[in-house]
Amino acid sequence: MSFGSMPIANSFIKKNNFKKQFFYKMEAGFCKNCTTFQLIKVPKAKMMFNENYAYLASTSKFMKKHWGELSKNIVKNLKLNKNSFVVEVGSNDGIFLENISRKKIGHLGIDASKNVCDIAKSKGINSLNAFFNTKTAKKIKLKYGKADVIVCTNTMHHIEDINGVVEGMGELIKDNGTIITEDPSLNEMLKKNAYDQIYAEHMYIWSLSSMNFLFGKHGMEIYHIENNNNHGGCSRYFIAKKNVKKITKNVLTHMSLEKKLGVNKLSTFLKFKDKINFLKKKLKSLLIDLKDKKKIIVGYGAPAKSSTILNFCGIDNKLIDKIFDNSETKIGKYTPGKSLIKIENSDNFRKTKSDYCILFAWNHKKEILLKENNYSKKNGKWIIPVPKLKIV
Ligand code: TYD
Repeated sequence: MSFGSMPIANSFIKKNNFKKQFFYKMEAGFCKNCTTFQLIKVPKAKMMFNENYAYLASTSKFMKKHWGELSKNIVKNLKLNKNSFVVEVGSNDGIFLENISRKKIGHLGIDASKNVCDIAKSKGINSLNAFFNTKTAKKIKLKYGKADVIVCTNTMHHIEDINGVVEGMGELIKDNGTIITEDPSLNEMLKKNAYDQIYAEHMYIWSLSSMNFLFGKHGMEIYHIENNNNHGGCSRYFIAKKNVKKITKNVLTHMSLEKKLGVNKLSTFLKFKDKINFLKKKLKSLLIDLKDKKKIIVGYGAPAKSSTILNFCGIDNKLIDKIFDNSETKIGKYTPGKSLIKIENSDNFRKTKSDYCILFAWNHKKEILLKENNYSKKNGKWIIPVPKLKIV
């Protein structure tokens, strides 16, 4: 499945760097052996995760609440105390670990991007700026001992050397410890036609089946699964060393759901390809049509997902005037690739006249539509790009 030439999704750029962009050919494939849906080739990790990493987890208050709740659940259900050790792989700006740190529980956050790691440190969170792999795991074990819990959310899809990560987790986790991962779900991507979940930083879209295969290779298994609606639909996996914890009913139910949806069959992905090519044509022709009618079109939210939509559909600054976002790392910059749309502070959204607004951050629909409820009252129309192109 080819998406054509793509920039690094999170590489929002300054005007003077328009000509210095990096492009790669984005192609997705499905492996019949390990049942993983993934990109065939990805740019080097350092190109994506560095001191300029644009994604700040704490820009959403819903997500703050979400990770606060995970922390509460873990502390209670896994009976953590001041002597416990919680490791987070991909700790970003400390949105999850700040809850653990506040309870004075031993912890360490690891993140490959220096800028977000520095934000976490400034909040008093013990953080290490590094790529996590077996070598890093051994160093951590030597310094702090083994972990009771390893949390790795929205990160398992980021890392090409995923076997190194899982092997490292196996090395670092106690024999009766729990690993918790949470990532966009392949089931939901297929159900919602959410092709914008696919980009270099999301090089794998995991399913229970592919995740179990991966951990199985390293002597571990998924014993419990929970689903939620974040990031367009995520699965949270609870993993332990093989035969240590009882497999819950949720795992069996989810397995049969995946079978029903055909997530392990190539034909499912061929159908998905046809559906997204149809969505691409529909979105582009809608925007051209509106522009012909002299309508002003803007966007809301510049998630990494928007880079896939804009570049795959061939949408640029001739169709969309500007995009509003609240991330300080993105404001004043331009969307990457050929789209080059200016990103403005979302505080200016209400002051700017427009007829249509594409909600690129569709996964935050509830929060954004509530905050910007005046837009509809003033006859502004929201364009929701997935699962079906919808105007509300
Ligand atoms: P998100 O969907 O969380 O991530 P990803 O980059 O992985 O696709 O990104 C949401 C974007 O929307 C992010 O750039 C912040 C922005 N945003 C706002 O501008 N206002 C808001 O109220 C919210 C919730 C997000």
